[in-house]
Amino acid sequence: MDNYVIRGTNRLEGKVNISGAKNAALKLMAASIMASGTTVVNNIPNIKDVWTMVDVLKKLGMEVNFDDHNRLEIKSSSFLQHETPYELVRRMRASIIVLGPLLALLGKAKVAMPGGCNIGSRKVDMHIKGLELLGAKIETEYGYIKATTDGLKGAIIPLDFPSVGATENLVMAAVLAEGVTEIENAAREPEVVDLINFLNKMGAEIEGVGTSTIKIKGVKSLKGINYTVIPDRIEAGTYMIAAAITRGDILIKKAQASHLELVISKLRETGVSIKETKEGIRVKSLKRPIAADVATLPYPGFPTDMQAQMMALLSVANGTSVITENVFENRFIFVGVLNRMGSDIVTDGHHAIIRGVNQLSGAPVKAPDLRGGAALVLGALAAEGVTEISDVYHIDRGYENFEQKLRLLGADINRVSVEADAFDEM
Ligand code: UD1
Repeated sequence: MDNYVIRGTNRLEGKVNISGAKNAALKLMAASIMASGTTVVNNIPNIKDVWTMVDVLKKLGMEVNFDDHNRLEIKSSSFLQHETPYELVRRMRASIIVLGPLLALLGKAKVAMPGGCNIGSRKVDMHIKGLELLGAKIETEYGYIKATTDGLKGAIIPLDFPSVGATENLVMAAVLAEGVTEIENAAREPEVVDLINFLNKMGAEIEGVGTSTIKIKGVKSLKGINYTVIPDRIEAGTYMIAAAITRGDILIKKAQASHLELVISKLRETGVSIKETKEGIRVKSLKRPIAADVATLPYPGFPTDMQAQMMALLSVANGTSVITENVFENRFIFVGVLNRMGSDIVTDGHHAIIRGVNQLSGAPVKAPDLRGGAALVLGALAAEGVTEISDVYHIDRGYENFEQKLRLLGADINRVSVEADAFDEM
């Protein structure tokens, strides 16, 4: 068990390199199941979720090699298994993403019902309905989703909500289906676009990339390729807020402004200066932020994965802000924890009212999930005194070298090993 010990109020300055996008990398790894030969993916972040997906692929019988240069090599196997056990899926909800590729390739798949961040009910009904429309027979029993088919066939699939995971699972299943599939109300996140570009390079025929109607013409097979993952917009956004909350000046290298438009405009509203440069995005702040209202929405709306970090910033803003969470229920779990550090936030359903305070203060706190944990780190960087954050394994799921990168920017942050709390074990 590791904790972070953070001494706040240092101004963060300098340059930081953004890693490859977690939520794209995981999906490209799953898509590689369908490719013949060897697939090489560069710029894969060295984070816990990626290692979980490495374990998933190995369990399926694939040969996977992840080297020290963020390069992942995946070799196809003629002895591919069709089952992903609960012990792996419970570590990471994204494991559900192997359902589509396995079903498309083998005609059968058995995947445990997902676990992952505790941020709402996180249903999989749209994944299941869509696969059924493609001709799969699905049974859910004993905690597993069992899918079988005699051959998937193209279909029109209208999604009730532009779910990222459902769009990706269905695109992957449809790629090897017979005929044409049309996904309506599809997700448009940059990570979905990256997956489609990856599949097209492998030989798929997908149109409508980046729009809400995706058309997939089934092909017979896909081949291994060499590909590089896009930069992580959520990691970039987290460092943007690190600059804003510490009244710092950070050049976020490789960050793509086109993926962060709403985050940039909201941060500008709080008074932060943001400039696009050849190298990335430079974020500078000299004064206390101004309150702003934020509502999360599917892309291109404000990302739900930046909601907690934005809340940390607004907790010290001048004035009262309202954050509305429209994507996940229960994504305010970290609010109570942040309030232990002196913020003044009340929640009512999917709204949070944030009365900005002058200063947060260090306290012992526990990271409740990945982005909530990152928000606590941001709060701690601005807080007076020492904050000790436990359960940092949540943060390790998604941030590569978090404390090293922050330290290089001038943060006083250390990782310490601690004995597991006996009460936590119960
Ligand atoms: C992905 C991201 C996650 C991000 C989210 C929204 C990965 C690994 N994770 O998660 O970081 O916060 O997109 O941008 O890429 N829903 C249903 N039924 C379904 C599927 C989803 O009701 O079958 C609901 C969910 O409960 C949630 C909403 O749709 O309320 C959005 O979920 P979705 O877009 O599917 O998110 P994920 O793919 O799980």
